[in-house]
Amino acid sequence: MVISDCNGMEPELMDVVRLFAGAEELAISHSGRFSGGKFSNTFLVEGEAFSFSDEGEPAGETEKKSLMKRYAKLGLYMILRSRFGRDLPWGSLTGIRPTRLAYKELEAGRDFVPLFRKLMVSEENIALVGEVLAGQRGIYERREGNCDLFISLPFCPTKCDYCSFITAPIARTRQYVPAYLEALERELEASISAIGHLRSVYVGGGTPFAVEAEELARVLAAAAKLRTNGCEFTVEAGRPDVFTREKLDLCREYGVTRICINAQSFSDRTLEAIGRRHTAEDLFRAFDMAAPYGFDVNCDLIAGLTGESVEEFCRSVDTVISLGPENITVHTLCLKKGAKLKEETETLSEGGMSEMIAYSREKLAQAGYRPYYLYRQKYMAGAHENVGWTKPGKACVYNVDVMEESADNLAVGSNAISKKVFLREDRIERLGSPKDIPTYLQKVDKLIEERTKLFRA
Ligand SMILES: C[S@@+](CC[C@H](N)C(=O)[O-])C[C@H]1O[C@@H](n2cnc3c(N)ncnc32)[C@H](O)[C@@H]1O
Ligand code: SF4
Repeated sequence: MVISDCNGMEPELMDVVRLFAGAEELAISHSGRFSGGKFSNTFLVEGEAFSFSDEGEPAGETEKKSLMKRYAKLGLYMILRSRFGRDLPWGSLTGIRPTRLAYKELEAGRDFVPLFRKLMVSEENIALVGEVLAGQRGIYERREGNCDLFISLPFCPTKCDYCSFITAPIARTRQYVPAYLEALERELEASISAIGHLRSVYVGGGTPFAVEAEELARVLAAAAKLRTNGCEFTVEAGRPDVFTREKLDLCREYGVTRICINAQSFSDRTLEAIGRRHTAEDLFRAFDMAAPYGFDVNCDLIAGLTGESVEEFCRSVDTVISLGPENITVHTLCLKKGAKLKEETETLSEGGMSEMIAYSREKLAQAGYRPYYLYRQKYMAGAHENVGWTKPGKACVYNVDVMEESADNLAVGSNAISKKVFLREDRIERLGSPKDIPTYLQKVDKLIEERTKLFRA
C-alpha cells in the first residue's frame, strides 16, 4: 500500500509498485516537495527511510506536477529494484506510449536518450524507441484535420481466455446484429461532414469476419462511402475459423487494402488452451486463401501465453516469418479485467519472457522487418511491451496515428472511443460509447449528436 502527501501521486506510485511481484505487500509512505529548483522525494518503506533530490526548472504548474511525478516514480523504482534485485526493461517508465514521450523531448529541442537513461530504461529499449521513430518517418504527422476512422464490430466466434475486449461469442449476441448494423450505418452517414483529411479506415473488433457475408457487405459499403480518397483500409478479419472466399471477395470489392490473419500462436496445444477454436493448419489455409487477393497482411502473436514454453513461442516466430506477412505484431501477454485469465491468475509469470522478446526482435530484424509502433499496458508479463513490425514501406498508418495520438480518431460502434486532438493546445478530448450493445443501441442518437459537436469544435 502507498500513502503520499502529494495530490494524485498514489495511483502513479502504485503503477511502479505493481511492476514488482510481491511489492504490493509493502507499507510505503511518500512525501514530495519542490523548492529552490530541487524536487525532493522521501520514502519510508517498511520503516526504512530513503531520500532523493533532482534538479529541474519547470515552466509552469503543469510541468511542475509532471516532473514531481516523474522523479517520485524514479525514486520508488530505485528502491524497489535494489530490494527485489531486478532491473526492468522500461525502468521507471510506466506510461502506455514511450514513443510519445520521446517525441515530446524532440519537439522541445532535446534528444530523448538522456531522459530515457535517467529513467533507467534499458539500452536495448532506448535503441528500439529510436528505431520505431525512424520507422514512422514519412507517416508520423501532426497536422490539424488529419483523421482516422474506426468501426467496431464486437462479435467473435468464441471468447479467448486472455481477452478483455467487450465482445461475446456471436452465438449469444446474434440477435443484436441487424439493429447494430443499422446503428453503424447511421453513425457513419452522420460522420461524413465531421471528417477532415481521412488517413485510414480500420474495421476492428472483435472479429469482423464473425458476421455473415451480407452483413459484412453493409459495413464495408458504408465505410467505402466515406473513404473517397483511396486511403489505407484495414479489416481486422481476425481468426481463420471464420475466413471465407466470399468475405475476402467483398473486401476486394470495397477497396480493402490490409487484413489481419491473427495466429497468437502456431502451437495447437496453446490454441486449444486459450480457447481459440482453430488450429495452426487452419492458419496456413487462411494465408493460402488470402494470398491471391494481394492484400497487405498483419499477423498477431502473443508472448507469454499460459503454459507456452519459450521454444513453442520461438517456433511461432519462425513460422510467421516463413509465411511472410507484411506486418507482424508481437504482443506481451497482459492480465486484463474482464478476461477469463484474470479470474484464474493473480500475476503473470516472468519466466522466459525476456528470452522470447529478445528472440522475436533478433529474428524479425534478421528477416528484414523493422519496428514501427510500440505501446505498453498495465500488468504486462515481465513489464515488456507490444511491438508492430513491418516490411519496408508497409507500415500501417492507422497504428501509427492511434499510438502517437497524432490525428483525430472518429470511432463508431459500441465500446469505441472517439478522440479529437487539439494540436495547438496539446490536449485530447475523448468521447466513449457504451460498452454493451443494448445500451449502445438505445443511446446511439445522443452519441451522434455529441460527436458531431465535438468534431465541429
Ligand atoms: C482486438 S484483438 C482482435 C483480433 C482478432 N479478434 C483475433 O483474435 O484474431 C487484437 C489483438 O490484441 C491482442 N490481445 C488481446 N488481448 C490480449 C492480452 N490480454 N494480452 C496480450 N495481447 C492481447 C491479440 O494479439 C489480438 O489479436
Ligand atoms: S482475441 Fe480476438 S477473437 Fe479472441 S476474444 Fe479477443 S477479439 Fe475475440
